[in-house]
Parts: sequence; C-alpha cells; structure tokens
Amino acid sequence: MAACTRRDFLRAGAGAAALVAGTGLRAGGAEPPGPAGPRAVASGNGLRATDKAVEVLRAGGGPLDAVIAGVNIVEDDPEDMSVGYGGLPNEDGVVELDASVMDGPTHGAGAVASLRNIKNPSRVARLVMERTSHVLLVGPGALKFALAHGFEEEDLLTDKSRAAWLRWKETLSDRDNWVPAKAESLPEQLRSVLSTHGTINCLAIDASGRLAGVTTTSGLAWKLAGRVGDSPIIGAGLYVDNEIGAAGSTGLGEANLRTCASFRIVDAMGRGATPEQACLQVLEAVAAKAKRWPGLCDAEGRPSFGLEFYALNKKGEFGGAGFFEGGRYAVHDGSENKLREAAYLYKRRPAR
Ligand code: GLY
Repeated sequence: MAACTRRDFLRAGAGAAALVAGTGLRAGGAEPPGPAGPRAVASGNGLRATDKAVEVLRAGGGPLDAVIAGVNIVEDDPEDMSVGYGGLPNEDGVVELDASVMDGPTHGAGAVASLRNIKNPSRVARLVMERTSHVLLVGPGALKFALAHGFEEEDLLTDKSRAAWLRWKETLSDRDNWVPAKAESLPEQLRSVLSTHGTINCLAIDASGRLAGVTTTSGLAWKLAGRVGDSPIIGAGLYVDNEIGAAGSTGLGEANLRTCASFRIVDAMGRGATPEQACLQVLEAVAAKAKRWPGLCDAEGRPSFGLEFYALNKKGEFGGAGFFEGGRYAVHDGSENKLREAAYLYKRRPAR
C-alpha cells in the first residue's frame, strides 16, 4: 500500500482554516450576518440554478420548489453532459438518470435511480416523496411511475453525447472492429476523452430557515447498465436536517457510497463544525479510506478521483470543498450570485 507523504495535505478543521489562509486560497465559507436566507449553494455547474432558486424563494416559493426549479435548468440543457438531457450514457449508449430530493421541514425524501427517457428525474424524485409511501424507485418501476404522473418519454441522447459515446467505444481497444474517426475530423471537445462524471447538487434556505436539497445526474459515463451512484442515495449524495443544515456531493459516487458523506457532513455541522470545516473533515476521512481502494489512490496514497462536497447550515453559512485545488462552487448569498473557490485537501500535482 502506498504511503501518503501529506506534504501538501491541508488538514481539516481549525488547522485547515489557517493553512488555507496561509496558501492564499480564498476559501468559500462565509459567516453572513442577519437572516439565514434566501440563499442557495450548488456545484460549479449550478450558477443558473442558484440564481433561479433565490428568484423562486423571493417570489414566495418553498425551498424545495426553489432547488428543483434551479436544477431543472441544467437537466434541460443539452450542453451540460453530466445531467438530464444530453447527459453521457452508459456503456450501451443509453442515458440512465439518478436523482434525490430532501425537504427539511418534513424530513421527507424521494429518489429515482436508473431512470431512462425522462429528462427531469428531480421532479420524479419529488413525486416519489410526495405521492408514495416509498423513498426510492428504480429502473422500469421508476419509469412506470413517471409515466403515470404524465411525464413524457424522450430520447435523452443528443448528437453530441452520442458522438462522445461512439468516440469512447471506438477507442477502447485496437482488437475489436470499431474504428475511430480521425481526431482532426472531430470537434475539439471530443478529441480527448470527456470528463466521465459530473452531477448537480443544489441546496437552499429561505428567510424562515427552511432547508431543502436536490442532487441529479446522468452518473458515471460509460457505466454498466443498472449502475447506481451516490446521487439518489439519501445520506450519500444528499442529506438535509432542518435543525442543522444540508449537504450534497458531486464526483465519484462509489467513493461516497462507501462513506455516506452527506450525512456525515450534516452530522459534523451538528457537532459544531462550520460548513467548510465539515466538508474538509469528511474529505479527510474519505481520503484515509481511499488508501485501501486499489486503483483509486495514486503512488503517494492520495485519492486519484474527484469528490466535491457542498454544505449550507441553518444560519445560512455555506462552504464547498474538494480533494484538489481549483474547484469552484456556486453561491447566491442573497445579494450576489457567483462562483467561489472551494477549499481543498491537496494542491494539484504539477504537470510532468
Ligand atoms: N456523483 C455522481 C455519480 O457518481 O453517479
């Protein structure tokens, strides 16, 4: 097993705050005075979502209305290839979507997994919460439930995501009968292998301190059919406790499924950590476990995959953190909507 040198390991908690300050990293956490909300936090692809969420809250909508309206923009956008319509497909070229929602005031939860042909799984997840006594529906059952509620089936593969899938399939091996197109004939974006996972998480709090969250994704690109990530698993990809705060995740779902990160972040906030400290503490705990995961740590014992956490507490304080330097997350703090630098554990290894 490789030993981690920890040379550039930024320790979590109070130490992290000092080290982060020492590196000049402008960490994203904040200690806003005044009322908790309206305020919204999302992953780096969620700037439109946070804007929409605060707009909905200001118009009198609830926090769950707000976060779902926010992520629907990204689910509907064919240019975001990690979520909803246009999301990258499984190894068979079929888009399978996962999503979960949690409503703070009722402590209600709903989720769908491996849902095909419906571009807004977050809305179906909400209906699972509101119109069934269950929490999670999967595959054909989730589709049947969505159709019963009037959702329409559509092909979620776009020309661009189909081309990306073909590119992946054609370049897998030189011992099969697939022949890749010449790189120069491809759009720039398809010349290198595309990012293979992405997701949107959005959390919000209203002026009364009511919290809600949603996580929605097309999951790991080129996954085995039926693979379910962390996004629809309550406690992994999303957790909300209205008395404490909310947390969500993007990145490699398998790492989160093994460590229940969102629940742990909220739990850490309940024991006094700020949102940013809580995210860093749980990242540190996941990094420690990753040393035992073959293929998921580098020669120095550091995680070789991406994982990012977002958190918002009952006071409206927020934070975001990832394993590696350079991450961004979206925050609408009630006065401005912008991307902020996420805190991190490791500086990126310099390019060799
Ligand atoms: N975090 C999204 C996934 O791994 O499916």
